[in-house]
Amino acid sequence: MHAKLIDWQLLMQLTWPPTIGRAAMWDGFARRYDGYARLSEPYVAPQLAALALQPGETLLDVGAGPGRLAIPAALQGAKVTALDVSASMLGELQRNAQAAGAGNIDTVELAWEDVRPGDNLQPHDVVLLSRSPAMRDLAKVDALARRAAYVMVYSGRSLKSFHDELVAGIEPAPPVQERPGLMSYVLVFNQLIDMGIEAHVDYLPDGFDKWYPDEDAAVADFAWLDLPAGSEARFRANLAPWLQPEAGGLRLKIETRTAVVWWRK
Ligand SMILES: C[S@@+](CC[C@H](N)C(=O)[O-])C[C@H]1O[C@@H](n2cnc3c(N)ncnc32)[C@H](O)[C@@H]1O
Repeated sequence: MHAKLIDWQLLMQLTWPPTIGRAAMWDGFARRYDGYARLSEPYVAPQLAALALQPGETLLDVGAGPGRLAIPAALQGAKVTALDVSASMLGELQRNAQAAGAGNIDTVELAWEDVRPGDNLQPHDVVLLSRSPAMRDLAKVDALARRAAYVMVYSGRSLKSFHDELVAGIEPAPPVQERPGLMSYVLVFNQLIDMGIEAHVDYLPDGFDKWYPDEDAAVADFAWLDLPAGSEARFRANLAPWLQPEAGGLRLKIETRTAVVWWRK
C-alpha cells in the first residue's frame, strides 16, 4: 500500500462552499433557479438522452430542484423519485409537474446526508446527480444505483456566474470564499478512480437560450428575480451584453458545457 499523492476526497471537502448543502440557501433561491431552468430548456434533451432511460426504469434524481430533468424523464415513462433538501424547490417541482401532466414522480424531502441506502431509500435503476451537492458522497450514489449512475456538473461557466453578473451592483457580491473554486467533475472522476470505478466522461452543450421581440420583453421575462424597485436601469445594463439582434428581435444566448461523469454497475 502506498501513500496517495492527492487525496481527492479531502480536496473535495476543503474546497466545498460552506452554504451549498443548506436548505435555507436553496429555499431562498428556488424561484430564481426555476426561472433560469426555463431559459435553459433547449439544452435539456441531450442531457436526458445521456441517461439512456428504458421505459419503466426507476430514476432517483438527487437534488432534483424544480424538476428540470426529473419531469421530462417522468414524461418519457421513467418512475422518478425526486429527492431534495429544499421544500421550496420541491414546491416548484410539484407545480411544474402538474403543469406538464407528469404524474409518476414521488418527492422525498430529505438531506442527502440523512439518506441510508436500503433503509430509508431503496436502490433505483439509475441515479442522477445534476449540479447536485450529493456528489460529495459518491459511495452512497454507487450503493443506490442498480444499472448506472450519472453525475452532471458544469464544465464551463455556471448558472451562478451568469446570475452574479445579472445582479451585479444591485445585490451584494457573493463573498469570495463561497465561490465554488475547485468543485468540478475532475474531483468526481478522480474520487471514483480511488473507489476502483473507471468512469466515462462526456461533454454536452449547455446554456441559456431564448428569443424576445424587444428589450422590454426580455426584461419582463426576468420578473422572477424580484429585484428591488429602482434597480431596473442597472439590470437593463447588466442584461444588454447577453442580448444579440436576431430576426427583428433579440436573442439571449449563453453557451457553456456540462460534463457527464457516468458509470455502469
Ligand atoms: C443547482 S440545483 C440543481 C437542480 C437540478 N438537479 C438541475 O439539474 O436543474 C441543486 C439542488 O440540490 C438541492 N440540495 C442541496 N443540498 C442538498 C442536500 N444536502 N441534500 C439534498 N438535496 C440538496 C438543492 O435544494 C437544489 O434543489
